[in-house]
Amino acid sequence: MPVRLNQPLSKTPNADEQAMLAQLQGNILKGHGRKHTAHVFLRFDAAEQAGARAFLKSLASKLTTASLQLANSAKFRAAKKAGKAAISTPPFMTCVLSASGYTALGIAAPNQPADNAFRGGMKSRAPLLNDPAAATWDIGYQNENHAMILIGGDANATTAAKSKQIDDALKALASTIPTSVTVIGVERGRAYFNGNEDGIEHFGYVDGRSQPLLRESDIEREDAGGDGIVRWSPSFPLKQVLLRDPASNDANAFGSYFVYRKLEQNVQAFKAAETTLGAELQQLAVAQGHLFDPELAGAMIVGRFEDGTPVLLQNAEGMHHPVPNDFDYSGDQSGLKCPFHAHIRKTNPRGDTARMFGVSLESEREHIMARRGITYGARKQNKKKAFLDQPTKDVGLLFMAYQSNVINQFEFTQASWANNTSFVNASTGIDPVIGQGSASNKQKHRAGWGDVQASTQDSRFADFVTLKGGEYFFAPSLAFFAGL
Ligand code: HEM
Repeated sequence: MPVRLNQPLSKTPNADEQAMLAQLQGNILKGHGRKHTAHVFLRFDAAEQAGARAFLKSLASKLTTASLQLANSAKFRAAKKAGKAAISTPPFMTCVLSASGYTALGIAAPNQPADNAFRGGMKSRAPLLNDPAAATWDIGYQNENHAMILIGGDANATTAAKSKQIDDALKALASTIPTSVTVIGVERGRAYFNGNEDGIEHFGYVDGRSQPLLRESDIEREDAGGDGIVRWSPSFPLKQVLLRDPASNDANAFGSYFVYRKLEQNVQAFKAAETTLGAELQQLAVAQGHLFDPELAGAMIVGRFEDGTPVLLQNAEGMHHPVPNDFDYSGDQSGLKCPFHAHIRKTNPRGDTARMFGVSLESEREHIMARRGITYGARKQNKKKAFLDQPTKDVGLLFMAYQSNVINQFEFTQASWANNTSFVNASTGIDPVIGQGSASNKQKHRAGWGDVQASTQDSRFADFVTLKGGEYFFAPSLAFFAGL
């Protein structure tokens, strides 16, 4: 029986699915979960293809397959459940290639992934995405990027040990890189957590909670240990992220498109704008004889309070054990609780397009990606894990996401939803977290929660996140590396 792409991975994979997992790279079906990462960007010398090919072929034995990752994470969970000392795992490693990388390696066009956005490369898509000119990006990203190798530290090691482990892995990798391959840059990822041990991004909000789950066992765990799967199904078919690897004749060789964007966050400006907006809305509310908690301003920008509580569900934080994800917006069809412009409503409207435009929920869900980002940059936190500083630069998100169609998933989300001032309706405005373009555009901010009578203010909340570099890549199967 072939790989069943129209459903999540079964708890009892068939023989073809097992063969698929043995040569699929890790991190696609489930995040690698490592808290420290290194991202090594490479360029191949097209005049010396043999050297670059041999290097990639030798790398294959070090890459973490999906089977290995899933087996390790099962062992890790079992040890934790039994209260045993956590097991130690080797560094996680994955390698992705850009279209110019395939070409530099001499891979014939029909054997390269076919997505037009991938083939054109991220820079060529700037007009569609409203991206800043590549000349303003960090130097290392301004020219062609052919490959990225991601190394993740041991999930269990101490912070210092994890850093050292990655340093050692980087050194070991560097010693194998031939002269035909140039290291054009290395980024370091570093995850941050709040006092509840939930992962946060630099503006201070819980991130990474809502994900498409691609394995039956993860869906069952979410049902049992999360807040349920009744109103929002986290279950997605394998075809959401997987497609046949075009470079291999093996029917069980699969890969996934990988979008990488280095997004710098101006924390100081975001936090100041959040405070100003909160004070303005509070003033408006008081003038109407109401109370307004200024914390709501930020929650209505993101769609969740800092602790992850969805602003749809209540008007104050506190729902964080577990952070809820089982909701849709059918009870808030006018956007009075969670505004239409809120980042999480823009990037996952959870049925708004079905309710408003008659688009089927199934087609709307086709735009969802498996997000695998990690924060970068150094921050100071106190004992309760509150951030103590507010940097203006050098911190942000290494946004990474797997998908089976770049145009219909990442690009659609960024261009047709986040940047589109008229999505979901004419007065929505751009996504205040990641929207790009329309300098004069404003959102409508409401000085009340769930209150149609509350005053509103039209003002612009945007431009705190800046693209500093990026590329579209493909994560090939191990069969591809073996065939080089
Ligand atoms: C620095 C940039 C970004 C920041 C600070 C940010 C922040 C957040 C936060 C705090 C959440 C809520 C946690 C959750 O529901 O998982 C979230 C969710 C999400 N973000 Fe972002 N994000 C950024 C970039 C992006 C980009 C570039 C995209 C896609 C184009 C994106 C798409 C999403 C999606 C799809 C969700 C889940 C929404 C849901 O399912 O309800 N984000 N983000």
